[in-house]
Amino acid sequence: MREIGLTRVRIGEFAWSRIEPEPGQYAWDWLDRAIETLHAAGLGIILGTPTATPPKWLVDSMPDMIAVDRDGRPRRFGSRRHYCFSHIGYRRQAARITRAMAERYGHHPAIVAWQTDNEYGCHDTVQSFSPAALAAFRAWLAEHYGDVAVLNRAWGNVFWSQEYRSFDEIDLPNLTVTEANPAHWLAFRRFASDEVVRFNHIQVDILRAMSPGRAITHNFMGFFTEFDHHDVAQSLDAVGWDSYPLGFLDSFRFSEDDKLRYARQGHPDIAAFHHDLYRGCTRSGRWWVLEQQPGPVNWARHNPAPLDGMVRLWTLEALAHGAELVSYFRWRQAPFAQEQLHAGLLRPDNAPAPAYAEAAQAARDIAAIGPMSDAVKSVALIFSYDSDWITTIQPQGAGLSALWAAFDAYSALRQMGLNVDILPPDAPLEGYKLCVVPCMPVVPDKLLAHLDDFNGPVVIGPRSGSRTADFAIPETLPPGPIFPARVVRVESLRPGLIHPGQGWAVRRWIEHLETDAAAELVADDGTVACWRSGNRRYLAAWPDQDLLAMVLRTAARDAGIKTVHLPAGLRIRRTGSHVFAFNYSTETIAIPDDIGGKLVLGQRELAAAGVAVLKL
Ligand code: GAL
Repeated sequence: MREIGLTRVRIGEFAWSRIEPEPGQYAWDWLDRAIETLHAAGLGIILGTPTATPPKWLVDSMPDMIAVDRDGRPRRFGSRRHYCFSHIGYRRQAARITRAMAERYGHHPAIVAWQTDNEYGCHDTVQSFSPAALAAFRAWLAEHYGDVAVLNRAWGNVFWSQEYRSFDEIDLPNLTVTEANPAHWLAFRRFASDEVVRFNHIQVDILRAMSPGRAITHNFMGFFTEFDHHDVAQSLDAVGWDSYPLGFLDSFRFSEDDKLRYARQGHPDIAAFHHDLYRGCTRSGRWWVLEQQPGPVNWARHNPAPLDGMVRLWTLEALAHGAELVSYFRWRQAPFAQEQLHAGLLRPDNAPAPAYAEAAQAARDIAAIGPMSDAVKSVALIFSYDSDWITTIQPQGAGLSALWAAFDAYSALRQMGLNVDILPPDAPLEGYKLCVVPCMPVVPDKLLAHLDDFNGPVVIGPRSGSRTADFAIPETLPPGPIFPARVVRVESLRPGLIHPGQGWAVRRWIEHLETDAAAELVADDGTVACWRSGNRRYLAAWPDQDLLAMVLRTAARDAGIKTVHLPAGLRIRRTGSHVFAFNYSTETIAIPDDIGGKLVLGQRELAAAGVAVLKL
């Protein structure tokens, strides 16, 4: 590890059955030895609490700690993440093992950080439909609504005779005959998210008290919105996330063309989108990649190897977006159990795998690039987790959600060579030149206030302002104060049903507005795709890439931001001192002439998977 320039090691996150093989009997010797070995080599340790993998004896002593899935089936022991976040007994056990680890290692000089648990929500585990969750949900509702009559009114429970006489009559929203009340689902999703926050907090409080001076982190996942990451991040010192560009490309909503074109590189915006999203989750702006894909993984439908050079590219790209740390998952490929076909930096026989040399090269490159200035501030893209909950609870048109609206807008902006910060709705907008709100059904007052103070162009996407906090259509009709108009009718369109414009088309979704705003983009049949009032634009259609590019390019021009037309697969990232270029294509690409600077790494003729760094 030291030889290839690694300085940090992340360990222990699933080690409960070895740390505590019998109830109350701790076996620290092996972990002591591992920690001393790493310490002696000068490596700093990120130590995981093992609460994602409660051992068999613990589950057997408390069988009702098991999470229950949406179909009402209890999860079984035999993999991981089988616990229910709401189970009080399990919370106590999680606190106990965290305390025991902090007592043993909290002051050890090799421990530089703690990771709480591992990937909250992985394998669809945020929502549990267990008796423990039901009791906790009822208490949560009572606390939030105070009086059940208030809840009935807020949810519109007069509809279909859904009214309750007490909080104790309210069930979880699964297993209903047809869809449950969307307000019920939204409350449940808020509750489930709060349970993750609470669970995490217990560990954070213990670690802060018993292991001062160490950063506390957690590893978030990709394209994952089941809990509010802004909320969980409040208690973390550095946000971590696990970057698997090839697995994500294969598993998520990318076109078959892109899945093939980028099969060995990942779509060029997958990693960067999450870098910029998770950086925006912490007040400190500190963030880490805690798991970097080093080769084929085991869990997507197809698991190709990355193109030579991609592991280095992903590492340097994280650095360019401000990561303090990139950690590869995993060090050695495990020859046994579930992840046998998941690559590491080493093969199962301990010989170097291809990523080994790339990690070493990346470490040398980082040293050669040296210190950099902060990133250039340009576009603020606003995202909230409840937006994604609302659009997935009530999609109204297949495949449309706030997360993908954010990703598509992000991708369009990145193709113009712009830096994007993905921010929570309460973040200040000072210093930004352009603000994009791709899809925000509930618009918080703070965002309204910040937008009122913002002088640059603002682009607002469909469904914004379309719901109250309790999932009803606002009395004055959407989009409310964010744009001077009333949405009087909404349609979603099946593929092929389109309203063509000049070089773009309205597809998938149309909102019909009554407004005095100016119609800025009008399809050939008169359907308005984009309205404008003052510095604000409102997209009345779910924008495809052409429409997005057109509207965002115009808004960027109004903002006085210089855009470039990047060739497909090329991405750039600007700091005050350096410009980075990354080639995600399989061909050599020339960096466009209008991107200047003195080359300090790579070449302007950038080979596939190549990285160039220009000093300003
Ligand atoms: C992550 C997880 C790791 C490992 C990895 C495989 O989801 O944190 O423990 O399972 O994926 O890619």
